[in-house]
Amino acid sequence: MTEAQFIPKAYTNTVEQGKVTWESPSNIALVKYWGKKKNQIPENPSISFTLNNCKTITTLTFEKKEDTSDFDFEVYLDGEKKDGFKPKIETFFKRVEAYVPFLKDYKFVVETRNTFPHSSGIASSASGMSAMALCLMSVEKQLSSNEISEEYFNQKASFLARLGSGSACRSIEGDLIVWGENEVVKGSSDLFGVKYPYAVHDNFKEYQDTILLVDKGEKQVSSTVGHNLMFNHPYAQNRFAQAHDNLEKLKPILESGNLDEFISLIESEALTLHAMMMTSMPYFILMKPNTLEIINKIWAFRKETGAHIGFTLDAGANVHVLYPKKESEKILEFIKNELVGYCQNEQYICDQIGFGAQQVQ
Ligand code: PMV
Repeated sequence: MTEAQFIPKAYTNTVEQGKVTWESPSNIALVKYWGKKKNQIPENPSISFTLNNCKTITTLTFEKKEDTSDFDFEVYLDGEKKDGFKPKIETFFKRVEAYVPFLKDYKFVVETRNTFPHSSGIASSASGMSAMALCLMSVEKQLSSNEISEEYFNQKASFLARLGSGSACRSIEGDLIVWGENEVVKGSSDLFGVKYPYAVHDNFKEYQDTILLVDKGEKQVSSTVGHNLMFNHPYAQNRFAQAHDNLEKLKPILESGNLDEFISLIESEALTLHAMMMTSMPYFILMKPNTLEIINKIWAFRKETGAHIGFTLDAGANVHVLYPKKESEKILEFIKNELVGYCQNEQYICDQIGFGAQQVQ
């Protein structure tokens, strides 16, 4: 697949107006994407669990307009007009216009809401950008007289989402998604996410992710800035090679269901991501003291009880606590008793592995 294959042929249908709604989930990477080339091409492959409960629900209303010289859209979050979101969407529209050439033909109203608190520090860009991309694909489908295969629809939705926010390309489907060309996963691509095609042990079915909201504030360093600091980073090339190795190591782990090895690999990935931040120039730290308190508590509990509890981190202070469904009773009890106290306002979100976005309307 090349970019050119996502440029549509002339549309066969005219549509005056319409309305589409998609709900799309967030995802959490096990092998992390950190560092990108031009046009949101990742420096290394990544693999993620799609989440189930942390979602963005977006309705796109569109109406044909006379003047097709520029974009025309409004954005609402939770029913409130949000002009502050417009520059991000405008940038996205500019990036994807060549692939969805109808953007200037319509006036759009974007109404969006998240199932998780807006300022929770949970990245809404993955769920938000994927929901938006899916809405645009639904418009394209109508303009193409519905003659688009499901495979093409999902691939192109992932491709468009990637141009909005890299990791968003892993939110279209579930339950495990790989993005970034590599030798381990056949059919993998830098352009879009693909479903992990190999055997996955039952231990990972309904895998739990309890997200501990340690710090809900604005991040001091955005992921865009963080990715860019991988240019000329002294350890970048080794890190990129390590991501390929870790993906290769993960394959037999996913197949055998070896939870101890799984935990070692994902925790090492999380700490490596943050080590890259700490060794950038300028360097920065996104973990907070309570992030470390939680990590140490998890390690102590695991040592004491043998429970298969592990953690991962994204580009922030929050901790994703990962564990198998069958151990959830005892682990959730531990989380409530010992970890929630380290969260801002004791806030946490119970989620689990999910199966991707759904069209609502
Ligand atoms: O999609 P972005 O540009 O926000 O980058 C996300 C990067 C990490 O969340 C840290 C890792 C990942 O693979 O999701």
